[in-house]
Amino acid sequence: MAVISDSNEAVRLLKNGGIVALPTETVYGLGANALDEHAVAKVFKVKNRPSFDPLIVHVASIEQAKLIAEVTDEAEALFRRFSPGPLTLILQKKQIVPDLTTSGHMTVGVRIPNHPIVLEVIRNSGLCIAAPSANPFGYTSPTNAAHVFDQFGDGIDAVLDGGPCEVGIESTILEMSETPKILRLGGLSIESIEDVIGKVIIESSSSDPKAPGMLSSHYNPGVNVRLFESLNEMLSQYKVVNKSSIGLLIMGKGPCGDNMYNLSTSNDDVEAASRLFTGLHQLKAKGFREIWAHSVPENGLGRAINDRLKRAAH
Ligand code: TXA
Ligand code: MG
Repeated sequence: MAVISDSNEAVRLLKNGGIVALPTETVYGLGANALDEHAVAKVFKVKNRPSFDPLIVHVASIEQAKLIAEVTDEAEALFRRFSPGPLTLILQKKQIVPDLTTSGHMTVGVRIPNHPIVLEVIRNSGLCIAAPSANPFGYTSPTNAAHVFDQFGDGIDAVLDGGPCEVGIESTILEMSETPKILRLGGLSIESIEDVIGKVIIESSSSDPKAPGMLSSHYNPGVNVRLFESLNEMLSQYKVVNKSSIGLLIMGKGPCGDNMYNLSTSNDDVEAASRLFTGLHQLKAKGFREIWAHSVPENGLGRAINDRLKRAAH
């Protein structure tokens, strides 16, 4: 990994699907093109999250926010008052945002960060940038470029050095539901928010607001999913059933056909993760009454894939 100070280099890497740690006013973020599933999958992998957790998408303006989310009047009022700044709004997502970026949620977290360098990168690249805090799962968020360098080594393409972060704690996350709800306390006070939109609910002070169980229905593709221990076990059962009603989700070397979707023939966990939701959607769209899938090796993103398959099969 290189520590760089040229924002044009960061733009070039990001446009090529790279992962670049970027300075924001809160903490450094692990940035990637939010609309590129493969790049987003790499972010999940290097962060080593035990399961997918939706990413915040960073934009440079309210106009750009409207490309990826439904910005209500109330949300616009908040952005006008506090952005750029440490506020993330959870809004209805537009279709252009991949399911992987939002972990299957119909909503997307949107933030306009207040740091000249990251704003320059967003503007010059024209990208919307997905960025979780640039720390491996369970570690403290980085507030300078050296933290990022020490924690990631060669796991990412570069860190763009923008000096120490001014805010140093993550953004406040506000879900814009009927009664707006704080999902994470952060760099913007509740009082400031209530000043603009009145009383808000505080869901919890946890940094991981949504219990994983709440997400389960999002992963259910709308048909029964049956999960097998291994590809071999799945295929041996498949031999003895009526095949016309079953779609197969496969990873690795296996049969191929119209009723099958291969996540990655080369067993690449990043590729598989980036194709998982798409595969489930496609098999559902083909009208199968059941989708069969098998557990994949528990390394890298494999754990997250298995976690999602288990929820889908629940
Ligand atoms: O200050 C920050 O927000 C930093 C900088 C880099 O912008 N980013 C950050 O990202 O803290 P991360 O991934 O470490 O934390 C984002 C939190 C996660 O707990 C995630 O569950 C929540 O935001 N989140 C993101 N999208 C969401 C959604 N659609 N619904 C509910 N929660 C969401
Ligand atoms: Mg974090």
